[in-house]
Amino acid sequence: MAEITKKWFKEMSVYQIWTRSFCDSNGDGIGDLPGVYSKLDYIKSLGVDAIWFSPIFPSPNADYGYDVSDYKNINPEFGTLDDFKMILEGAHARGMRVFMDLVVNHTSSEHEWFKESRKSVDNPYHDYYFWRKGKDGNPPNNWLSVFEGGAWEYDKNLDEYYLHVFAKGQPDLNMDNPKVREEVKSIMRFWLDMGVDGFREDVITFISKDEGLPNGIPLPVATGVEHYKHGPHLEEYLDEFRAVAKEYDCMQVGEGPMTSLKDAVKLCAEGPDQKLDMMISFDHMNADCFMIDWVKTPFSLRKLKSTMAKWQEAMYGVGWNCLYIENHDHARVIDRYGSVKFREQSGKALATMYTMQCGTPFIYQGQEIGMTNPTVGHLTDCKDVSTFNNYKIFKKLGYSEKRFLKLWSEVSRECARTPVQWSAEKNAGFTSADEPWFVINKNYKEVNVEAAEKDPNSILNYYRKLLKFRKENEVVIYGDFKQYYANSNKLFVYERNYEGQKLFVVVSFSENPVNFKAPEGIDLTKAELAIGNYDVVNPNKNEFRTKPYEARVYLFK
Ligand code: GLC
Ligand code: CA
Repeated sequence: MAEITKKWFKEMSVYQIWTRSFCDSNGDGIGDLPGVYSKLDYIKSLGVDAIWFSPIFPSPNADYGYDVSDYKNINPEFGTLDDFKMILEGAHARGMRVFMDLVVNHTSSEHEWFKESRKSVDNPYHDYYFWRKGKDGNPPNNWLSVFEGGAWEYDKNLDEYYLHVFAKGQPDLNMDNPKVREEVKSIMRFWLDMGVDGFREDVITFISKDEGLPNGIPLPVATGVEHYKHGPHLEEYLDEFRAVAKEYDCMQVGEGPMTSLKDAVKLCAEGPDQKLDMMISFDHMNADCFMIDWVKTPFSLRKLKSTMAKWQEAMYGVGWNCLYIENHDHARVIDRYGSVKFREQSGKALATMYTMQCGTPFIYQGQEIGMTNPTVGHLTDCKDVSTFNNYKIFKKLGYSEKRFLKLWSEVSRECARTPVQWSAEKNAGFTSADEPWFVINKNYKEVNVEAAEKDPNSILNYYRKLLKFRKENEVVIYGDFKQYYANSNKLFVYERNYEGQKLFVVVSFSENPVNFKAPEGIDLTKAELAIGNYDVVNPNKNEFRTKPYEARVYLFK
């Protein structure tokens, strides 16, 4: 059996904050850092060990913070560097680490480097970006961006185009320029010296582009992606950044859209060549869509299970998994993989299903109270560049605004960006302003933190149980993974083993009863039902019928 090494980041769980929608302290309708500070005890009470902040740097918000205009400062909408230092101190004092988002595939078009780069071709910053001449009046190649049509934007003054793989306001940095890599290291050091404990590295697998920027295979979006999704110098550059991380006790989680399991293992395998500690994979987020969230397909539990099992098995004893089912880039998971009708039950079932696997669980704000997708009346209520881009695409396919907004409320990442619902008060207790920056889900009177605190059986209190249980039982952290009934499209069943401890997990993804029979070799009469989302009268039976979205975690000692 593979040897497993113990590390602090393997034992933790992480809470992700998307500050703009977390908590507004000064009544301007926008979440901010003093708002986060006021909730540190709440965050700690979940049982998490770290906070990851989605970007909180100055940004013109072309992509809400993922377009950074100054890497060594705090967005004034959110507060000041001193506010951040208070959080850092407050988090550390409570035994929680703090991770920053390192967004270095691109900057904002408002970043000083970019403003300099477009002044002239001899400007020292010109080569910080991909500036190229057009070809016969056309852009330099056929690449399409992820968010806004063509991947090249023309600059009249220079008579050149710049590359933006994401939005127009997110010009790609030329990582082949050693000066740019030095800047990245300097950004890392700036935050690490302040006391930050690690980074979540935004689309980090995109930072090296194929030489000559050749044409790509035509796709509806992101044409050219095969020329930068694991480019020729990626591993070299990651080694350079890793060397900085190693000077500190810094954890690195890379985001890898479209990264294959094979590549992820290569980057995360422990040893002298390791480049990243974990990978944010997208594979398991495709169980109800084709390639991208907007191309919806019916949810397939089998697809989810086979993907998760593959990552579990391949990483065990080799690298480490990042476990998540929600973040700021996907619609709420209860709507996607669970059931809004069985919100409480399916919210807990999903929580069980992923936090009991091998890896570091990440929980996204609002997930812990079972927030669900909102609806909006008009496109003008929407805020996100990817929504507007998709509207253009779907309009061409004949969608009316109304039909588009129905789809939006099922698949758009904006669904996960509505303000956190703290109470049944005005604006869900998120802000005292008349108008929050973005719509609040209409269900806030029932779904909110205050109500969940009062209910011992809430999703919130269930998350607390799971995280506490994980911390107290090494088998949850370090156990291996073995799946049963892989072909079932209703039950997710697996076992974990570690040094004589055994965990056995059964999760139903059905609102109808399912007949469960313990597989050979598993005797539930000898186990303890450690956690479950129903009161079970006689849990020590080897056969039972599941209740809607029932989850059971058995422990053998
Ligand atoms: C990552 C971020 C996403 C952002 C994109 C471009 O995927 O998570 O929110 O839009 O990178 O930076
Ligand atoms: Ca504010």
